[in-house]
Amino acid sequence: TIDREFLKALPKCEHHMHLEGALSPALLFQLAAQNNITLPQDDECYANAETLSTRYKGFTSLDDFLGYYYMGMSVLIQSSDFEALAWDYFQHASADGVQHAEVFFDPQAHMSRGVSYKTVLSGFTAASERAETELGMTSMLTTCFLRHLPPKDCLDVFESDDVQASYEAGAVKAIGLDSSELPFPPDMFRDLYARAKAQGLRLTAHAGEEGPSSYISTALDTLHVDRIDHGIRLAEDPELMAKIAARGTLLTVCPLSNVVLRCVDRVEQVPIRKFLDAGVKFSINSDDPAYFGGYILDNYVAVQHAFALSVGDWETICKAAIEGSWCGEERKKEML
Ligand code: HPA
Ligand code: ZN
Repeated sequence: TIDREFLKALPKCEHHMHLEGALSPALLFQLAAQNNITLPQDDECYANAETLSTRYKGFTSLDDFLGYYYMGMSVLIQSSDFEALAWDYFQHASADGVQHAEVFFDPQAHMSRGVSYKTVLSGFTAASERAETELGMTSMLTTCFLRHLPPKDCLDVFESDDVQASYEAGAVKAIGLDSSELPFPPDMFRDLYARAKAQGLRLTAHAGEEGPSSYISTALDTLHVDRIDHGIRLAEDPELMAKIAARGTLLTVCPLSNVVLRCVDRVEQVPIRKFLDAGVKFSINSDDPAYFGGYILDNYVAVQHAFALSVGDWETICKAAIEGSWCGEERKKEML
């Protein structure tokens, strides 16, 4: 039988998680106290970790969640805060059987608060090195750009010295696009993506989470992304689905996120079976585990519960995740 233990033992790669989304209410209050940060007095959810956790169970949309996500980040000040945050995630991921994680962070959300990019990066890098030595888990960092901000701001941050230095040093190897999806179509960011591509960076973008499937085709055709984050609304367009299957583009699906943010009512409505039947490659991921009530294994378990997949289906999913990873071929062979 395919139970939690079976799913835990599968060699997992995670491709869609925001390190800032690993901030648990407990760590949020701890860092707020350490850094003397005042949380909103007029929102009773911030009374304590328990009231905040309860609020997290009642998100009504992506934007409703993002308000809490950005507020939560206000407690992250020191490099050691970013390290603690990422280390918390790596420990959870390793316990869930993740061997390789490609994780996002949002530089603009910190730089706009006066926290330097170097502070953020040094904390995340320290945790990532520790994960490799202590947990045997490899990882890669992706800078995500905030699509609700003007494309010019995104480009300025991309071109700033510290950010460029991190690409040149190989500390960051990819860019992504996140935050409010509507009404910010991917082609607004074509200049940013053209520059990143010219520099040899890997490219991904959130598309087709709340936005229409046309955002997925635009991300492919105008941004030339290698991967699509979420992409669940692809199922509404069979022609595009066939095209993506033929191209072998990986979708990074986040089932529990889709339910919590009300993109679907139930995990059963995430198009897992449709993607498997159409030959669309996808991985299963946690997105913002501390906000959505589960890490990667909880997502695997929820998918199994909803779809009663076979051992062969799980082999297909895990193989696609390993082969679609951005690590070297050697590392892929170790995981296969
Ligand atoms: N979508 C868009 N932006 C985000 C998300 C998401 O699921 N999580 C964190 N930032
Ligand atoms: Zn996401």
